[in-house]
Amino acid sequence: MSRHFAIVPAAGSGSRMGAGRPKQYLELAGRPLIWHALAALAGARRIACVCVVLSPEDDWWPRFDWAPLAARLRVLRVGGATRAQTVGNALEALAADVAPEDWMLVHDAARACLTTAQVDALIDALADDAVGGLLAQPVADTLKRGDAASRVAQTVPREAMWQAQTPQMFRHGVLRRALAEAPHVTDEAGAIESLGLAPRLVAAEAPNFKVTFPQDLALAELILRARGER
Ligand code: CTP
Ligand code: MG
Repeated sequence: MSRHFAIVPAAGSGSRMGAGRPKQYLELAGRPLIWHALAALAGARRIACVCVVLSPEDDWWPRFDWAPLAARLRVLRVGGATRAQTVGNALEALAADVAPEDWMLVHDAARACLTTAQVDALIDALADDAVGGLLAQPVADTLKRGDAASRVAQTVPREAMWQAQTPQMFRHGVLRRALAEAPHVTDEAGAIESLGLAPRLVAAEAPNFKVTFPQDLALAELILRARGER
């Protein structure tokens, strides 16, 4: 039986948030922002371990109390210069402890609204899948390609267009090879695609946006508070 592991890349600086600290440590609904993603993943019973990947220089992590989650967490201080490098380094660090067939669920620390139900739904949807896949959302709005002067250059048909989210779930061996061969991708699915494989799109049933800009914080806070604090 393949096991499941979560990998949470959290070695970014949050430059678009423009706060005085990396965004994963901003307060959100009474906890550090990253807490919510870690708690959602730790709540999934089939996930053996939640591996959080920090920058080697991170001095924020030790300032918070992780005790309620600690039994389910493993901290890897192997973050890299890009998200793909951070994930690739984590896959290398885990190589001795996992099997090539074990599933890795890679989830952005900044997607604070993930629910355990969504994690379970993704695992169920991909249980028998040969490739793996990702949570995603069909595009609802009309899409425009803009030019350098912010004028519409083209309307892009939205049919069949999806926004990629996380978790992205692939087997350790294939994902490790894919990221080593395609280090410039912006998500794991992109690396898998570069091997000629087609990841499955699993529709997200609840909000799962990435907290990126300052205005995203208030919406995430409302959603988390409405659900009740974890
Ligand atoms: N990330 C990472 N290592 C990097 C860059 C990003 O682990 N070198 C992580 C972030 O911490 C985040 C996730 O990848 O959890 C998604 O990245 P993003 O939302 O872009 O976060 P930042 O890179 O921190 O933000 P920005 O791009 O605005 O600087
Ligand atoms: Mg970034």
